[in-house]
Amino acid sequence: MELAIFVLPFLLASILYLGTTSAETETFLVGGSIGWAKENNGIWFPSGMIFYEGDSLKFVFNQTYYNVVIVDKPAYDTCRASEAAFEYNSGDDTIPLKKGENFFLCNKSGCCENKMKMKIDAVAGQRPTKRKETGS
Ligand SMILES: *[C@@H]1O[C@H](CO)[C@@H](O)[C@H](O)[C@H]1NC(C)=O
Ligand SMILES: *[C@@H]1O[C@H](CO)[C@@H](O)[C@H](O)[C@H]1NC(C)=O
Repeated sequence: MELAIFVLPFLLASILYLGTTSAETETFLVGGSIGWAKENNGIWFPSGMIFYEGDSLKFVFNQTYYNVVIVDKPAYDTCRASEAAFEYNSGDDTIPLKKGENFFLCNKSGCCENKMKMKIDAVAGQRPTKRKETGS
């Protein structure tokens, strides 16, 4: 019994470790130091950034004013999330990107109309590794 108590945390730790290193994915903070807030005026990332399928976006926000809802293009265009859309509201939410177009919006008290929406294109495949190949 004691063995199990000691072994389990190591087992979990190694699974997490593999999970973060086997794929070359990254997590990006939405809106930099200001976060997911209307003060960013709808500019969430520097232009020209390339996102890959499996990368994640971290939304940090004040739950009093904001949330994050995963939507489709019609909802994005009209600022109306369907009832079935998934809402994140912890104020510190990390959401993985799927391949292709990803649409997000905030639907609390008019925030979407204040440019609180975002479209991200994620390309297939993996980011070229930054590690220098040492040859074999
Ligand atoms: C969120 O906004 C409310 C109202 O302005 C404020 O009282 C609260 O401290 C804010 N929370 C955070 C985490 O900044
Ligand atoms: C925001 O979207 C969620 C998910 O569809 C929904 O449950 C909620 O009622 C919406 N809130 C408003 C204010 O429209």
